[in-house]
Amino acid sequence: MDGRDVDYTDILVEGFLNKRSTIFKEKGDVAAAGRDVLSASYKPDNPNHRDAQIEQLVKYFAPCMRNEAPANLLVYGKTGTGKTLITRHVAGKIVSRGAAGGFVPPHVIYINVKMCNTKYRILAKMCEDLGLDVPKTGLATDQVLETLKTLLKRDRRNLVAIIDEIDLLVRSREKDDLLYMLTRLSEEEPLVRVSVVGISNDLRFKTFLGIRVLSSLNAGEIVFPPYTTAELEDILMERAELAFNDGAYDRMIISTIANLAAKEDGDARKAIALLLKAAEVAEHKESHFIDADHVLIARDSLEFDATKNFLGTLPDQFKLVIIGISNTQAYNKCAVNTGSLLGIYHELMRQSDEITTSIGDRRLLQILKELRDHGVIDLHVISNGRHGRYSVSSMVIDRKIIEAVFSKDPVLRKLLNYVPKTRCLDTFFHQ
Ligand SMILES: Nc1ncnc2c1ncn2[C@@H]1O[C@H](COP(=O)(O)OP(=O)(O)OP(=O)(O)O)[C@@H](O)[C@H]1O
Ligand SMILES: [Mg+2]
Repeated sequence: MDGRDVDYTDILVEGFLNKRSTIFKEKGDVAAAGRDVLSASYKPDNPNHRDAQIEQLVKYFAPCMRNEAPANLLVYGKTGTGKTLITRHVAGKIVSRGAAGGFVPPHVIYINVKMCNTKYRILAKMCEDLGLDVPKTGLATDQVLETLKTLLKRDRRNLVAIIDEIDLLVRSREKDDLLYMLTRLSEEEPLVRVSVVGISNDLRFKTFLGIRVLSSLNAGEIVFPPYTTAELEDILMERAELAFNDGAYDRMIISTIANLAAKEDGDARKAIALLLKAAEVAEHKESHFIDADHVLIARDSLEFDATKNFLGTLPDQFKLVIIGISNTQAYNKCAVNTGSLLGIYHELMRQSDEITTSIGDRRLLQILKELRDHGVIDLHVISNGRHGRYSVSSMVIDRKIIEAVFSKDPVLRKLLNYVPKTRCLDTFFHQ
């Protein structure tokens, strides 16, 4: 008989089928358990530590309970402070309470500018949520706005538009046009009642708005402060109870994770991501509990991912400067004199036909400062007696990370092999 009696793949599949995770709880009868509870889409039932903001939001929605339109509102706070979760949570409760009787629930429409990034698409989505499909492109924005107006007049219900990550819209070419249109709608048509709840993690958001929009928006504000270590600890404990097997974690380990995350701006998203990664490391090592080593490995790997993402999205000029410094360190074994770096940049540019943007001294300095502020490079001044003082740049992040990211691009991959000809500081000194 050809081959083996039993298919090896089948054996492996059976093995995995019967394998229980050392860390994550099985789904069983519980609605959400295991990994799901730590995913971005999971919505906790009764979010903790945001009572003040919940109270302010309920107050904000109170006019709806008298069938009146609420004002406009801006929700601010750094990333991962619960703005999206809590705003949607409260809005959801208001709608379901209204549906249960007593008042006409408002139409609440949630739009995230990351998904829907033009005024046309946002207005079209509003029409769609009100039950009328609008073509994705092709109409004039004013036509879509007219359609929306007609729908709202017909319904006579308050519309509360939650526009999340609204700073992205206002900073784009679209500027504050949409906000202008929406605020004008209610002013012009007494039967149309639109309220805007804008959510932003950019605290400078209002400085992007023109005066006419600022005055007609006339919005209240709710601020979400970063979570403290103790608050993050509670949030993580609640998730851990649902996600992990008994004995797979203890308060100490949760507190270690909360501490690390609190240092990073009290961001609950990062804290939960770190908890998930640590659990995955523990599971991978077939451990029955998460220990401090797993947490450290998880933190390094998340940092590695974040650095990789950051490097990948930089403009070409920044990448060339990084390659210049990194190659000098790797091949010439020295930190690069900032004065020579411009020469190295242009050497690199000549090696590729694709990168054609030349830069001058001032731009180079700006780029260096930005890279330093993001912790990619170090800048220091060294003094060498009668030779005077020199400013040098050196890499903070590992060459391996740079290679991993840049070698994905064929143009940059070639440049990573280039040995700079420009003399760098050490050789300059040793003449
Ligand atoms: N009080 C809380 N209780 C439980 N989980 C929370 C709480 N606050 C935030 N989270 C969780 O943390 C993550 C980030 O929260 P959220 O998305 O609301 O942050 P955000 O302030 O909108 O951040 P961004 O500005 O980046 O959009 C989500 O997974 C959310 O479920
Ligand atoms: Mg958000």
